[in-house]
Amino acid sequence: MRRSASLLQVLLVFITMVATQWSSVSSTYCKDMASSVYRPHSVTITEFGAVGDGVTLNTKAFQNAIFYLNSFADKGGAQLFVPAGRWLTGSFSLISHLTLSLDKDAEIIGSPDSSNWPAIDPLPSYGRGRELPGKRHQSLIFGSNLTDVIITGANGTIDGQGAIWWDWFYNNTLNYTRPHLVELMYSTDVVISNLTFKNSPYWNIHPVYCSQVLVQHVTILAPLNSPNTAGINPDSSTNVCIDHCYVRNGDDVIVIKSGWDEYGISFARPSTNISISNITGETRGGAGIAFGSEMSGGISEVRAEGLRIVNSMHGIRIKTAPGRGGYVKNVYISDVTMDNVSMAIRITGNFGEHPDDKYDRNALPMISNITIKNLVGVNVGVAGILEGIEGDNFSSICLSNVSLSVQSMHPWNCSLIQGYSNSVIPESCEQLRTDCGQTPICYDGGSSSAIHAQEPRHRLWSATRLLNPLLKSATL
Ligand SMILES: *[C@@H]1O[C@H](CO)[C@@H](O)[C@H](O)[C@H]1NC(C)=O
Ligand SMILES: *[C@@H]1O[C@H](CO)[C@@H](O)[C@H](O)[C@H]1NC(C)=O
Ligand SMILES: *[C@@H]1O[C@H](CO)[C@@H](O)[C@H](O)[C@H]1NC(C)=O
Ligand SMILES: *[C@@H]1O[C@H](CO)[C@@H](O)[C@H](O)[C@H]1NC(C)=O
Ligand SMILES: *[C@@H]1O[C@H](CO)[C@@H](O)[C@H](O)[C@H]1NC(C)=O
Ligand SMILES: *[C@@H]1O[C@H](CO)[C@@H](O)[C@H](O)[C@H]1NC(C)=O
Ligand SMILES: *[C@@H]1O[C@H](CO)[C@@H](O)[C@H](O)[C@H]1NC(C)=O
Ligand SMILES: *[C@@H]1O[C@H](CO)[C@@H](O)[C@H](O)[C@H]1NC(C)=O
Ligand SMILES: *[C@@H]1O[C@H](CO)[C@@H](O)[C@H](O)[C@H]1NC(C)=O
Ligand SMILES: *[C@@H]1O[C@H](CO)[C@@H](O)[C@H](O)[C@H]1NC(C)=O
Ligand SMILES: *[C@@H]1O[C@H](CO)[C@@H](O)[C@H](O)[C@H]1NC(C)=O
Ligand SMILES: *[C@@H]1O[C@H](CO)[C@@H](O)[C@H](O)[C@H]1NC(C)=O
Repeated sequence: MRRSASLLQVLLVFITMVATQWSSVSSTYCKDMASSVYRPHSVTITEFGAVGDGVTLNTKAFQNAIFYLNSFADKGGAQLFVPAGRWLTGSFSLISHLTLSLDKDAEIIGSPDSSNWPAIDPLPSYGRGRELPGKRHQSLIFGSNLTDVIITGANGTIDGQGAIWWDWFYNNTLNYTRPHLVELMYSTDVVISNLTFKNSPYWNIHPVYCSQVLVQHVTILAPLNSPNTAGINPDSSTNVCIDHCYVRNGDDVIVIKSGWDEYGISFARPSTNISISNITGETRGGAGIAFGSEMSGGISEVRAEGLRIVNSMHGIRIKTAPGRGGYVKNVYISDVTMDNVSMAIRITGNFGEHPDDKYDRNALPMISNITIKNLVGVNVGVAGILEGIEGDNFSSICLSNVSLSVQSMHPWNCSLIQGYSNSVIPESCEQLRTDCGQTPICYDGGSSSAIHAQEPRHRLWSATRLLNPLLKSATL
């Protein structure tokens, strides 16, 4: 007994070492992204007549400055510097090879006049505006078909002044879907870093049809009761890295999407290769990390580790419905702590909300290979409600090393799902009671060539093979 205990300790130390080394290897596509690029030319927004008094509307100044900087695009690009001050503006568009840089006490603030946020076409993968049919307001900071764009600063602030938009939403006087704070469409090599985003009218950061996106050292703040102020929403985008962020808002902290029902299915742009690490989030109405509900183009190869979720409705959430089609697969979430979360894990197969009544009820989503491990939660209401779809079981849902102190007498409620678990407290529902140590079926982030540097991969595999029987014998 003694001997096996110390053997166990030695092995656990070994495994911890391997795991630590492994998690320090960030995704190859994240490593390649440069968070700063030297720009040989720089101008300051005041050179274009901007006034930082919080009252003067500076939309024209931003547009003129960016128009001027376009001539440097093929000369290494340029920087637009925003000094300390309160710079009121309507929506403006960025160009390629541009760095928008905000000084420490610089605040770009959104105009409370909706006519300063032009109406633009809905996204092809949504078929219509997300909350109202028809056009949608352009985001405060917008870009389309760009490459090499950096939005950064010494923790300057971009404040959407969303309160008036939330009122328009509540009193049903919006004409179009509300604007995001920052949206980039069809763009590559995008960096958003070292800034604070506040009071977005709608979602905060929305890369859609993008690749090579880095969101880093960002703070996102909106009132906990503000409607739909989701934090970071990678949508039909690939090779997205999100790390070192703090989010406190009214909806999902990070939510991965890929289009809506028949429009998302036919546009067919998945979100894949998404890497998330070191995120602290607090959301009253949403989840720490969510998938969907718009996931019709497919979501795969997602790796999230180092999540701290506090005072929130949901911890980890997958939202889908008949009509969505698409898939959520190959998702690996590890090293998560939760404190005061109403529901730690929720998988919903009947989320509803359709763009119109033309969706195909037989287009069923495939939800498979979802692994959640090393999760510790305190003050948790319910451990999990995991519900698949009739005739469309969600499969290979794996929970490993999960420990939740739960208030409910019925911690798990599972239906129409299949999967595996080991070392789960409180004991998982019977649908997941096969031990994942006994099967090769549990998705292990390391098995995805998409996500990992090659070298440590086989070591993780061997560590996992060692770990599973060990955990089993330790808990018996
Ligand atoms: C942007 O790129 C998309 C996809 O390549 C294309 O359909 C669209 O026409 C482009 N828009 C502009 C303004 O060039
Ligand atoms: C950035 O500013 C926000 C809000 O003012 C603050 O909460 C956060 O700690 C700051 N981040 C850094 C790295 O200074
Ligand atoms: C709706 O809210 C806006 C913004 O606060 C306000 O100006 C407007 O009067 C309200 N309209 C109605 C019909 O309540
Ligand atoms: C909606 O359109 C009407 C008519 O153009 C306009 O008076 C009103 O301000 C608009 N509402 C919002 C919230 O933009
Ligand atoms: C961004 O913030 C991080 C952490 O505060 C800091 O290490 C890094 O140097 C900053 N980057 C820039 C470009 O200011
Ligand atoms: C995680 O990110 C926060 C900022 O949100 C930073 O203060 C902290 O040092 C980071 N932790 C690690 C382990 O990198
Ligand atoms: C727990 O979270 C809820 C919101 O989900 C919040 O209202 C409450 O204040 C939190 N409790 C503590 C002790 O932080
Ligand atoms: C189980 O998860 C906890 C919390 O993340 C972690 O500290 C511990 O090392 C994990 N145990 C194993 C055997 O991986
Ligand atoms: C489990 O969920 C189903 C459907 O949501 C519900 O009808 C049932 O009462 C729940 N069971 C428990 C024990 O909470
Ligand atoms: C679906 O999963 C349930 C357990 O949740 C299982 O009883 C049932 O046999 C599965 N159906 C199919 C078709 O695999
Ligand atoms: C699930 O992951 C396993 C490896 O763990 C892989 O062989 C299988 O193809 C994956 N399933 C899907 C649907 O991608
Ligand atoms: C995902 O990442 C892997 C390696 O990091 C790369 O080989 C693959 O092409 C990426 N997928 C896409 C769609 O970019």
